[in-house]
Amino acid sequence: MILGIGSGSTVREFIDLLSKLSLQVKCIPTSYDTELALRSRGLNTISLLDAHKIDLAIDGADSVFLDKRVIIKGHGGAFLREKIVDYLADEFIVIITEEKLERVVPVPVEVLPFAYSKFMLNELSKYGNPQLRSARDKLGPVVTDNGNWIIDIDIQPNLISRSLEIELKSIPGVIESGVFVRDARILVARKDGKVEEKTI
Ligand code: A5P
Repeated sequence: MILGIGSGSTVREFIDLLSKLSLQVKCIPTSYDTELALRSRGLNTISLLDAHKIDLAIDGADSVFLDKRVIIKGHGGAFLREKIVDYLADEFIVIITEEKLERVVPVPVEVLPFAYSKFMLNELSKYGNPQLRSARDKLGPVVTDNGNWIIDIDIQPNLISRSLEIELKSIPGVIESGVFVRDARILVARKDGKVEEKTI
């Protein structure tokens, strides 16, 4: 089976489990972080170029709006590669804990550094306050695995919609957003230890 493997702390737990099972899988990582985690646990990694199909992608999320059928991702800054792999997969599973349902989180966009300007910020301001994501252990902006920058926008829940994905991407210089709208099985881990499955 060819698996797309997302990024983040939830996926890290999944990778730990996967490494303990004797399954015949080839994994396509969605970030350098995930690739290193997979390799350090002896899991077989391949690139998109090696795959003729992706059977299943498994990922985490920062918020899921079940009624609006929108998933918000990108706190870990890997959403551009995540979206490519997650959207190409035949099936997509998202694992979240219950407090992530309808959670208000910033919506990130990955932008070409060349395009970062007052023109772009004005466009993004129509949705909320745009903030260039700053690095913690480095001066200046976070630079993604793709060499780009990230702008976080505090978009209010009433403005979250499926069309936001296309609207944000239509701004010149915006390469991708953390708004995911593909069909997915959402596994919600409840505090009582039960797992509820939803579909969007
Ligand atoms: C990475 O860019 C993100 O999309 C993550 O999938 C998302 O932030 C969830 O991460 P956690 O599992 O760490 O909450």
